[in-house]
Amino acid sequence: MDAVNPNVINDPVSLARSQFPGSATRFRHKSAPVMVCSDNMDFLRDMPDGCCKLIVTSPPYNLGKDYESRTPLDDYLDQQAAVISECVRVLHPQGSICWQVGNYVSDGEIMPLDTLTYPIFRRLRLKLRNRIIWHFGHGLHCTRRLSGRYETINWWTASDDYTWHLDPIRVPSKYPGKRHFKGPNAGRLSGNPLGKNPSDVWEFPNVKNNHPEKTGHPCQFPVELVERLVLSMTDKGDAVLDPYMGVGSSIIAALMHERDAYGCDVVPEYVDIASQRVEAWRKGELRTRPMGKPIYNPTLPNGGH
Ligand SMILES: C[S@@+](CC[C@H](N)C(=O)[O-])C[C@H]1O[C@@H](n2cnc3c(N)ncnc32)[C@H](O)[C@@H]1O
Repeated sequence: MDAVNPNVINDPVSLARSQFPGSATRFRHKSAPVMVCSDNMDFLRDMPDGCCKLIVTSPPYNLGKDYESRTPLDDYLDQQAAVISECVRVLHPQGSICWQVGNYVSDGEIMPLDTLTYPIFRRLRLKLRNRIIWHFGHGLHCTRRLSGRYETINWWTASDDYTWHLDPIRVPSKYPGKRHFKGPNAGRLSGNPLGKNPSDVWEFPNVKNNHPEKTGHPCQFPVELVERLVLSMTDKGDAVLDPYMGVGSSIIAALMHERDAYGCDVVPEYVDIASQRVEAWRKGELRTRPMGKPIYNPTLPNGGH
C-alpha cells in the first residue's frame, strides 16, 4: 500500500494500518475516515466479516479509461465476482450493497453491466430490492444509436431484515395540500406531510465541468446521490465502504451524515484528492450540490433555482 497525504485527517493511512491488518478484533467505529491507496482485494482482505452496513461503489466498466486496462469481458466479470464476494463477506447481516454501473460497449454493441453482474450477486444469495435508474443530462452524443442518459444502481441486501428509512429521503409531493374528499378521512391530508417516496427513477446532474463538485476524476459520483443511499440504508455510526473510492464522494456523503467511512483506490492522485476534499469538508469549504436542489431548467427564470 502507498501512503498518501499521511499528515491529514488524523493520519487515515496509519489508522487503516493499525485497524485492519489481520486484526478483526481491532476494527471499531471512529470518526476519521480510512482512505487507502490500495488494490481493493488487499484492502477488503484486512476487513473483518460483517462490519459494513452499506457498500456503495461504482467499479470501472472495462472501457479502457485512464484508471483501467480493457480485458476480455469474462476476465472482467471474474474480477468483479472476486471483489463482490469479498464485499459480501464484510457486509453486515442487515446491510446493503449498491453497485452502480453503466454499459460495457464493444464494437458499438452495448452490454448492461447490471445484467451481467446480476448472477454474481444471486449466486452469493443476495436479494435485489431495487434497480434504480439514475437519469442525468449530459454525456456522449451517439450517432448510430440513442445517446445514453441513464445508469443503474442495483440495491442488494444480505437478508430480509435490512436497515431501511424512507422518511429522510422523501421528496416534495406533487400536490402537498391534497385532501381526502370523502370517507372517514374526508378533509385530512391524503399524502404524507413529509413528502413522497422518491421512486426508483432518480435525476441528479452528473459531475461534468460546470458541476460544483468536479475534480480531475473523469467519473465522479455526485455526493447527493450517495447521500440518499446513506440516509436510507444506514444509521448514525454505521460503517460505509467504497472499494472503488475514486476521489472519495462516498466518503464525503458518509461523513456528512455522521457515518464511518472506508475506501480505497489504486490511483494515488485520486486518494490525494479524496483526502483534500475531506479536509475541505472539515473546514466547511467543500462545495457540494445540496440534496433537493431542483434540476436546472432553462425554460424557467434563473433556471428554476
Ligand atoms: C468509476 S471510478 C469511481 C469514482 C468514484 N465513485 C468517485 O466518486 O470518485 C472507479 C475507480 O476504481 C478505481 N480502481 C480500479 N481498479 C481498482 C482496484 N483493483 N482497487 C481499487 N480501486 C480500483 C479507479 O482508479 C477509479 O478511480
